[in-house]
Amino acid sequence: MASLGEDLLKIVNKLQDLVFNTIGNDSLDLPQIVVVGSQSSGKSSVLENIVGRDFLPRGSGIVTRRPLILQLINIPSESDKPEGDEVHVPHTPAAVSGQDEWAEFHHIPGRKFTDFQDVKREIENETARIAGNNKGINRQPINLKIYSAHVLSLTLVDLPGLTKVPIGDQPTDIEKQTRNLITEYIAKPNSIILAVSPANVDLVNSEALKLARHVDPMGRRTIGVLTKIDLMDHGTNAIDILSGRVYPLKLGFIGVVNRSQQDIQGNKSLAEALKAERDFFKMNPAYRNMANRCGTEFLAKTLNTTLKGHIRERLPDIKARLNTLMGQTQQELASYGDSAFTGKEHRGSLILQLMTRFATSFITSIDGTSSEIST
Ligand code: GDP
Ligand code: NA
Ligand code: MG
Repeated sequence: MASLGEDLLKIVNKLQDLVFNTIGNDSLDLPQIVVVGSQSSGKSSVLENIVGRDFLPRGSGIVTRRPLILQLINIPSESDKPEGDEVHVPHTPAAVSGQDEWAEFHHIPGRKFTDFQDVKREIENETARIAGNNKGINRQPINLKIYSAHVLSLTLVDLPGLTKVPIGDQPTDIEKQTRNLITEYIAKPNSIILAVSPANVDLVNSEALKLARHVDPMGRRTIGVLTKIDLMDHGTNAIDILSGRVYPLKLGFIGVVNRSQQDIQGNKSLAEALKAERDFFKMNPAYRNMANRCGTEFLAKTLNTTLKGHIRERLPDIKARLNTLMGQTQQELASYGDSAFTGKEHRGSLILQLMTRFATSFITSIDGTSSEIST
């Protein structure tokens, strides 16, 4: 098989970035899932469960102190790759590194993290670098991309939780600052709000729901997540809330049981935790009858369905934007001149073909159906 030159690979990576950056950001304005709630309500735990990987710092107290914009990027698995498909070679850096799941930070371009414990450490270090070591928060986001065959392409945002009383380096108006930061993210009409409330606190006091109601008064794009169901007072349960009889949300409430602090200290694996969660809902007489509508797996499925619905509605618009993007890319390629592309083939058209594949596979991954993109 002919090897594609280093230059070409670089340009393809640049194009791929262009597409994904555009898709992840405002120009395509795709839906993103924004996780909100009070401090230690379980936001990071929920997010981590959705991704299916241990990579977020979690714990009691204020741990998330900068927004984390997490772009999940679906790539074909090694085994899905057709043999001898030249166009596929530079499709993802995986083919180069031999890895099929890795993470990359925007602030460390080019470095592939394959150990997710390193990802966690880097988030902690990078948080401290900008937000200091003493509880302060900072609005400057950390951008992290996870490339994997096991994720659906979507953007998730983890935010600092609301706190009432300033501690450490926090300014006296910490509550207002955090509130403004959260509102900025959830005010976008394309944000799906994951409003996380702990089940061991009265729902009337849920900061997540108060914030969400402010920007989504009809409850159209808010999903209620009830964490810590395992920590409710004996003799009480969340049936009324989960059945939608307490607080009206079109997308409803889903109950979850995440890992406790003790589970985290004891290194309980995600797989074990998911099994324990399943058993919890199945064995508990209160939840037995609704067990198939409870838990992390059902939450992830609901999110996927909701996102697909949003995106399907917007597909015609997305395609138009991708076409514009490809037009712009064609111009940019022209500015590289022919010197970058030696060989018999018309490399420019190869690049466009790659672009189309990126775009098509992206839409396919979110839509589940093949979509033609005219060039
Ligand atoms: P965040 O501050 O909202 O991001 O919350 P974290 O995800 O960091 O969780 C805060 C603490 O609550 C951690 O010690 C978690 O282990 C614990 N926690 C989160 N969800 C649950 C849950 O459903 N059950 C139990 N028992 N503990 C949980
Ligand atoms: Na926390
Ligand atoms: Mg957190």
